[in-house]
Amino acid sequence: MSASPLTGKRIVLGVTGGIAAYKAIELSRRLVDAGAHVVPIMTDAAQHFVGATTLGALASEPVQTELWNNPTTPIPHTKVGQGADLIIVAPATAKSIAAYRMGYSHDLLQNTLIATRAPVIVCPAMHTEMWEHPSVVDNIATLRKRGVHIVEPESGRLAGGDMGAGRLADPATILGAAERILGPADLTGVRVVVSAGGTREPIDAVRVIANRSSGKQGYAVAAEAAARGAQVTLVSTVGLPTPAGVQVIAVETAAEMQEAMERAAIDHDVIVMAAAVADFRPAHAASGKIKKRDGVPEIVLQPTPDILAGLGANKRDDHVLVGFAAETANLVDNAQGKLERKRLDLIVANDVSAPGVGFAHDTNAVTLLRPGAKPVEIDLATKRDVARAVIDAVVDIRNAR
Ligand code: C5P
Repeated sequence: MSASPLTGKRIVLGVTGGIAAYKAIELSRRLVDAGAHVVPIMTDAAQHFVGATTLGALASEPVQTELWNNPTTPIPHTKVGQGADLIIVAPATAKSIAAYRMGYSHDLLQNTLIATRAPVIVCPAMHTEMWEHPSVVDNIATLRKRGVHIVEPESGRLAGGDMGAGRLADPATILGAAERILGPADLTGVRVVVSAGGTREPIDAVRVIANRSSGKQGYAVAAEAAARGAQVTLVSTVGLPTPAGVQVIAVETAAEMQEAMERAAIDHDVIVMAAAVADFRPAHAASGKIKKRDGVPEIVLQPTPDILAGLGANKRDDHVLVGFAAETANLVDNAQGKLERKRLDLIVANDVSAPGVGFAHDTNAVTLLRPGAKPVEIDLATKRDVARAVIDAVVDIRNAR
C-alpha cells in the first residue's frame, strides 16, 4: 500500500488573524496525522484569536511568530520558505491576501510566502461584504493567475451571527487540496464515479428501510481519486463533507441510484459501487403516514435491481468496474463468486463482523480480488488508506491494458 502523499512533506501552515484561526488547529492535527511535518507560523493578529501554545502542540514544532530575534534561525525570512514542500495560509484575511499580492513582506509569514518556490494554498475567510469587495476579488484573481491555489470559502454562519459566503473551507477540503497538489497525478483526465452510503426505501411518507452504511469508505475513495487528478462524481445517500474537487449527486433509493449510475457509466471510465444498496424494497409505499390505530401493517417486499450486475452486463472494454462485498463468513469465496457473476475488474471484500471493520468505523480491513490474480490483504487501516490501495489497484488495471 502506498503512503499518503503528505508523508514526510514539510508543510508551512500560516495562520492569520480571523475567527476561523481555531479551525487551523484541526487542520494542523489532520496534516500531522497524514504524516506531514507541520511548521506553524502565526501573525500577531492570529495570536488574538488562538494561542501559539495550542497550535504548536498540535503541529510538529513550536509556532514561529518573529521576523526579528527568531529563536529558531537567524535568517527566518528565507529559511522557512526555502525548506517548504507546500505552504498553506488558513485562514487568510483580506489584509494578508493584499500583502501577498503586493509582495509586502512586513512579517515572517509574508517573507516566507515570497521566499519560496513551493506551491501555495490560500484559504480565505472573511465576511461576505469583504469577500465580495472589488479589491479582494481583484487580489484573488491576481494570485490565481500567478498559480496560487485558492480554496474558496464556503457559505454558512459567520462570526456575529451573519450568514453568507466567507466561512473558511472545511479542514477536510483543505487537506484534499494539499493531497491533490503533492500526490501522484496518475488519474489525470480520468472520469471516476463512486456510489456511497446506504439506500433508503420508503415504506410510507415518513418511514424507510435503511441500513447501517455510513458512506465513509465511498467518500474516501472519491477523495483519493480526486487527489490523484481524476474528475470525480459521487452518487451519495449521505451528507458527509464533500471532498475537494468532487461533484455530488444526491440520491435516496436504489432506483434513483441506478438511474444516476447508469447515466454516469456513459461518460465515466471507472465505476466504483461502494454503496450498500437495499436488496428489497416495499412493493408499494403508502403516500401518507401508516397509522398505528389501523393495526400492524403487512409490508410486501420486492427485490431491487442489482445495479452493479447491470453495469457489469453492459460494461465497455475501457471501463474499470469495482464492487464491494460486505460479508460475515466465507469472505474470499463469496467475494470471488460476486467478482465473476457481476463481471467486475476488482472487488473489495470486508468481513463486517470483525472488530474495527466496515460500517460506521473510520478503519477497515479488506481483501482485494481481481480475476486471475492472488487475493491481496490490506490489514486494519484508515478508510483513506484502504481507498489508496483501491485506487492503486485501479491504476494498475488501467496500466495493464
Ligand atoms: O451481492 P452483494 O449485494 O453482496 O454485492 C455487493 C456489491 O453489489 C456492492 O458493490 C453493491 O454496491 C452492489 N449492489 C448493487 N445493487 C444491489 C445490491 C448490491 O449494485 N441491489
